[in-house]
Amino acid sequence: MSVSAVVGAQWGDEAKGKMVDLLAQEAHIVARFNGGDNAGHTVVNQYGTFKLRLTPNGFYNPDTICVIGPGVVVNMNTLASEVETIQEKGIDLTDRLWVSPRCNVVMPWHPMLETIYEKAKGRAQTGTTKRGMSPTYADKVSYNGIRLYDFSSQETLTQKIRTQLAIKNPIFEAFGLKPLNFEEILEEKINQYEGLGAFVRESFGLLHETLSKGDQILLEGAQGALLDNNWGTYPFCTASVPLSGGACAGLGLPPQTITRVVGVAKAYTTRVGAGPMPTELFDEDGRTIQDQGQEFGTVTGRARRCGWFDAELVRFTSQLNGVTELALTKLDVLDTLPVVKICVGYRSEESGEKLRHYWEGDAHWLEACEPVYIELEGWGESTKEARAFDQLPAKAQAYIRKVEELVGVRISVVSVGPARNETFSL
Ligand code: GDP
Ligand code: IMO
Ligand code: MG
Repeated sequence: MSVSAVVGAQWGDEAKGKMVDLLAQEAHIVARFNGGDNAGHTVVNQYGTFKLRLTPNGFYNPDTICVIGPGVVVNMNTLASEVETIQEKGIDLTDRLWVSPRCNVVMPWHPMLETIYEKAKGRAQTGTTKRGMSPTYADKVSYNGIRLYDFSSQETLTQKIRTQLAIKNPIFEAFGLKPLNFEEILEEKINQYEGLGAFVRESFGLLHETLSKGDQILLEGAQGALLDNNWGTYPFCTASVPLSGGACAGLGLPPQTITRVVGVAKAYTTRVGAGPMPTELFDEDGRTIQDQGQEFGTVTGRARRCGWFDAELVRFTSQLNGVTELALTKLDVLDTLPVVKICVGYRSEESGEKLRHYWEGDAHWLEACEPVYIELEGWGESTKEARAFDQLPAKAQAYIRKVEELVGVRISVVSVGPARNETFSL
């Protein structure tokens, strides 16, 4: 049994796509288990630069099968355009992309409902990616979802769309929006399904056969642990479970089969959207990180909020995920900073000198906490050319070792640029 999971250890965008691309070269299957097209995973490889939202990042290996499990919600439009982009590069996906018929589908009413929710919350809004994620998952758990299975019978699909429109259209009208047209939606969805139907097949048997043969399966987590629906900064979180444990339910894998969990963390912290972020910077250092890291959202283009590395958070998310090794990415972004800080815990009004943990309170409590830092000297030279730990400046080495010590997990990979080869193992 050999299942490795790549999961985000912060608030997403940790460069999971790059890590999956690196590890996928030996994988028989690369599988997504959560989220939807709210994800944006960048890969820079011999075929060019891809920013994929749904397709697992193993498609460029002719022998690798890409699986989208039932834990993922599928926007058929996004998937169709990704399939087209990939096939245009001369990469054949026939028999290599398996999308579970159990996947719920993002329907046109979902982003509309999301807009209503977000607007109603005003300044308290989550700041979502506007991909309709939370209403799609909410419909799924309240048995109102439409799954890919439903597309195999026009009668079932017709009946389900009619039922949902009977529920949703009065809501739209109440909020002054135009109701959705049944015929238009049915036609659009049937057309989209025509292009994708060949990829829809259940992967459970394939996954278990692969497990019994001992071939490698690589899991591609979307989002990051601090956006998890249970353990993240609720309600500033996402609708799915981006944890290694989420892969068991999201794909149908027994927990003990996942023997390697690679937690991906940036050498600093970023967050897109609203919610607490204890180490957020509003000064020149924050702007340097944003400029050097090109910190703009892959899906929405929004500027990402930037701050110092938060070891308290990554220690927590490593425990939560059972992280067996850390991949530390974007180290090069810190190259020019004279001083680098690492958060080791928080102080709140009531705690006095005692350091508090992330998991002790909710998002509002965290918002009021003050980060406690240690400071290290910056290394002040480029790390971009380093291809081994001993090629790094001594102060960058010290930074990595300090992160390792504070998080309590071995760092196995360091990334110093977007390309596949701008990486080394420790
Ligand atoms: P993901 O959602 O976790 O896959 O991450 P994203 O693709 O949304 O964001 C990561 C961004 O950082 C992408 O633009 C990558 O090309 C880029 N990137 C990845 N690794 C490095 C690195 O080590 N250094 C720099 N400077 N950029 C990187
Ligand atoms: P990848 O896989 C970063 C954030 C949104 C918002 C919150 C809820 O590329 O790391 P949603 O649209 O999911 O309902 O938005 O979650 N978010 C992400 N932030 N990376 C992502 O994915 C994200 N997916 C969702 O910005 O704060
Ligand atoms: Mg991303």
